[in-house]
Amino acid sequence: MILLAQLGVRSDLAGKGLGKTLVRNALELSLLLAQSAASVAMITDPIDENAMRYYVEKFGFSDIGIISVTGQPRLFLTMKTIASAYSASQRADAS
Ligand SMILES: CC(C)(COP(=O)(O)OP(=O)(O)OC[C@H]1O[C@@H](n2cnc3c(N)ncnc32)[C@H](O)[C@@H]1OP(=O)(O)O)[C@@H](O)C(=O)NCCC(=O)NCCS
Repeated sequence: MILLAQLGVRSDLAGKGLGKTLVRNALELSLLLAQSAASVAMITDPIDENAMRYYVEKFGFSDIGIISVTGQPRLFLTMKTIASAYSASQRADAS
């Protein structure tokens, strides 16, 4: 598993697309890492309900009922889903 930790956007800079760029970069990096280190999924522990909705609605993370050591729900996104989304976006960029 690859843990996406401590990703946040300052509240005065929220809503400008920075979060989307950061998460997409992290997802692309996870695909590269998965080529050399076995990994089935990316996991993240969103800081609050708002961030949780963001990961679920915008990126397809799932709440599978795991709670992190800090008491936050731990969300899960399979490498297979990340790879499919990445190749779809590559195809869209090429057209
Ligand atoms: C959740 C978080 C990462 C989002 O980052 P952001 O830069 O504000 O979000 P973006 O501008 O990239 O949003 C991209 C898209 O997600 C949508 N979106 C934003 N927040 C959302 C939410 N809570 N639920 C669903 N969708 C959301 C936007 O409407 C936008 O949609 P579009 O692409 O269709 O226009 C950010 O708000 C955050 O860090 N929240 C935690 C608060 C915090 O603790 N910050 C300080 C840390 S030091």
